Amino acid sequence: MRAPGSNLAPAAVAVIALATSSDAEGTLRSAVEASSLASRMTIGAAVNEGYFDADDGSYSQTAASQYNLVTAENSCKFGATEKVQNQFSFDACDQVLGFAEENNMAFRGHNLCWGVYNPSWVDDGGFSSAELTRILQNHINNTLTHYKGKAVAWDVVNEAIEDSAPYGLKKNTWNNITASGDATDYIDVAFAAARAADPDTLLFYNDYNVASMDGWSAGKSDAMFSMVKGMRDRGVPIDGVGLQMHVGCGYDLVDGVRANMQRYSDIGVQTHVTELDLTCEQSASYDCTWSGEVEEQQGRLYADLLQACVDVEGCTNFETWGFTDAHTWIKGDSHPLPFYDDYSEKKAVAMMMDVLASAN
Ligand code: G3I
Repeated sequence: MRAPGSNLAPAAVAVIALATSSDAEGTLRSAVEASSLASRMTIGAAVNEGYFDADDGSYSQTAASQYNLVTAENSCKFGATEKVQNQFSFDACDQVLGFAEENNMAFRGHNLCWGVYNPSWVDDGGFSSAELTRILQNHINNTLTHYKGKAVAWDVVNEAIEDSAPYGLKKNTWNNITASGDATDYIDVAFAAARAADPDTLLFYNDYNVASMDGWSAGKSDAMFSMVKGMRDRGVPIDGVGLQMHVGCGYDLVDGVRANMQRYSDIGVQTHVTELDLTCEQSASYDCTWSGEVEEQQGRLYADLLQACVDVEGCTNFETWGFTDAHTWIKGDSHPLPFYDDYSEKKAVAMMMDVLASAN
């Protein structure tokens, strides 16, 4: 199944179409599922299975009614699923998949290969290139075999690119995989292993400070685009890129994000907004004082970024990293998510619903 005029991977549309309507009315989820976008894009949030019973059920109830895709914040990562070499424990990650299945939501996998937060046996093992190759292939093969047919997409490699010029690859254990002597070898190994284990899930590269191709993130954004284009050109099976956006709501990003999404779409690579949270921080002053005005500004940026995703056919998921300020990885009082601590809606929710309604 291929969307009309689309040059995107057919699996995208087919798997996303599995998500069915929720019962709740007047939610982000019901708005996207009632819209003409329903077969193209999901609206998602990262969740943490440790909070499923939190806050008298408000956490689970809000996640299931407002979103039709979830990602596990931590429990599907290498360090969670293979703490001991070749002993796999998918229980926590399975809880998130189970939550998705119970609530007719799509499940997005995060992540298979990252330079940090590896179990110490990986980083301290002193393994050779050949051994690391087998370790990476074995991890990916076991994980994707366990989740075969269950995940719409996986972040195969996470955050590999340096933050400053010349934007090479970060040094980590995985660069010791040097089959051809190139620092990118481990990335190719990871994607090939993922495709071999599950031919249908979509394979993503995910990173931060890359969402906008303009302004302060232009350098890293261009480097990532070149890397991904190079992967496509040499036949590495990559279907999409994850654009994280852990930024302050005073940053003006939107046109550069839309243009970036479009250049990926033009080469047949999907974009997912994967990790969006917008603190109250203002770009010039770094001030982060919450007020009605800042709530409005934050809502506008959430809505404008959603509009950019709606505008570009290749953008197929719009996802925040968490959804309530009660449970966010960001320390301090920076109010980054669309729902308050008590799960009431910030202005961002109605403003995003307006975008979805006008997409009809
Ligand atoms: O589970 C242990 C607990 O047993 C222990 O008592 C506690 C003490 O600090 O730590 C707990 O583990 C923490 C874990 O989150 C679960 O809460 C780790 O220390 C902490 O480092 C870990 O942080 C996560 C981080 O990724 C590293 O994996 C954040 O929750 C998570 O939001 C963050 O997510 C990342 C994405 O994966 C990639 N992009 C950036 C994003 C934000 O940093």
